Amino acid sequence: EDEYRKTEWLKGRRVLITAGPTQEKIDPVRYFTNPSTGKMGFALARQAVRSGADVTLITGPVSLHTPKGAKRIDVVSAQEMYEEVLKHYPAADLVIKSAAVADYRPKETFEHKMKKSPGGYAVQMERTHDILQELGTRKEHQYLIGFAAETNDPERYGREKLEKKNLDAIVINNVAEEGAGFGTDTNASLFIQKSGREKIYPMMTKDQLAEEILKEASQEMTGRER
Ligand code: CTP
Ligand code: CA
Repeated sequence: EDEYRKTEWLKGRRVLITAGPTQEKIDPVRYFTNPSTGKMGFALARQAVRSGADVTLITGPVSLHTPKGAKRIDVVSAQEMYEEVLKHYPAADLVIKSAAVADYRPKETFEHKMKKSPGGYAVQMERTHDILQELGTRKEHQYLIGFAAETNDPERYGREKLEKKNLDAIVINNVAEEGAGFGTDTNASLFIQKSGREKIYPMMTKDQLAEEILKEASQEMTGRER
């Protein structure tokens, strides 16, 4: 039944994973979000537990069961995710940021429900923190993996993110491709490590992809202190 054998790839490692979308409130009954369902991050958490890791999963609002053995922390907004991630970062050995974090939030959140009126209205937006960028800046011993969701020229944009955010590796997804990206059970990706190692992963389940990513990361981490 459990097609994934247990391994010891990440035995003794502390793994921090983010998953899901964030919600950015306009008023008590309205928010901005994105189509992320959290499946990739939860698959990573599940496989990391199976690899013997001590797993912390920080997730936006999703409707998925917590992987057995993972410590789950629920957050709603990009700001909350930022705060929780920074709290857990110093102790982590491997960090994988698969969450689809909002880049913008409404500048103002109304305390009471806005009433509709005949005309349209404009919402002013402001930037959220780029959590991954901040982790890259503060990186010490951590092996840091980011995701890139792209619809055009994925490889170029992905490489730029690897560089700019000071990552050790990036998983690049073409979310315009059928069966890849948001909401699906499968993904096709290009995985590029800072070390120069690159892998093309054809369409496979998110659990299979998670296993591949964790195997690659654990190999790069051998020799690092546990
Ligand atoms: N990310 C983050 N905090 C943000 C935005 C993105 O930590 N506020 C992380 C995501 O979790 C992902 C990576 O950055 O691991 C790339 O996200 P993506 O949306 O593809 O790239 P951005 O850097 O946000 O650039 P853009 O959306 O303009 O392509
Ligand atoms: Ca973004």
